[in-house]
Amino acid sequence: MATPEELFEGDADRAGYVRGMFGDISARYDLMNTLMTGGRHHAWRKAAAGALVRPGDAVLDVGCGTGDLSFACLNAGAGYVFGLDFARPMVVRARQKAVERRAGIVSFGVGDATRLPVGDETFDVWCSAFVVRNIPDLDAALSEAWRVLKPGGRVGILEIPRMERGLLRPGARVHFQHVIPRVGRLVSGHSSAYRYLPVSVDHFLTPDELSARLRMAGFEVRRVRTFMFGTVALHVAEKP
Ligand SMILES: C[S@@+](CC[C@H](N)C(=O)[O-])C[C@H]1O[C@@H](n2cnc3c(N)ncnc32)[C@H](O)[C@@H]1O
Repeated sequence: MATPEELFEGDADRAGYVRGMFGDISARYDLMNTLMTGGRHHAWRKAAAGALVRPGDAVLDVGCGTGDLSFACLNAGAGYVFGLDFARPMVVRARQKAVERRAGIVSFGVGDATRLPVGDETFDVWCSAFVVRNIPDLDAALSEAWRVLKPGGRVGILEIPRMERGLLRPGARVHFQHVIPRVGRLVSGHSSAYRYLPVSVDHFLTPDELSARLRMAGFEVRRVRTFMFGTVALHVAEKP
């Protein structure tokens, strides 16, 4: 079994690890989000949905997990939301939550962000929360976002960016590298999921680097907003 660090080396199957790991922790995923963020995670998804969704929009939530960004988009006025995730147990949980909440026009399916099972120019919004850091071929995912968006469509990415050195960095490091792995192991029962998280952040992009990747994919970056002392970033971009 590869260590979290080894998953970022050579030809390690990081996507395979991510798919299996999220399948394993699906039952405790929502609880861990609340514990890790002090309950703030819902407010970030609400802010993302508010910045992206216009009334009646068709929204694609990529890496939907248990569906919370999809539900936030519905609450923001989306006409239809399709949530997609490659870990089937997360999709099952999202479907259960949709039934429990009597959520409106939403459906959830199993699929990969780098090979979207949807047609060209079918969505007004492509969004993802805490997903793209886990996708080894980010450019393929952005190219798929471009393909499925209508002209004028919006991309929204909520993520934990790599942190540059700064005053708050040591505090954030203690939280990510020591608190989260210990609490995560206890709560989820998974030995590496919450050790993988800080490693994946360290291998991810800064907000400026993510903006550059979005521009390389052809998008115009409209807005970058950070939350929780810069530990979470929302990028909003547009397909011209
Ligand atoms: C940290 S969870 C985020 C879930 C949800 N978006 C949220 O806000 O709670 C990351 C999710 O992305 C999914 N994921 C990662 N890579 C993916 C890919 N290439 N295609 C589809 N889903 C992917 C994982 O299975 C997992 O459910």
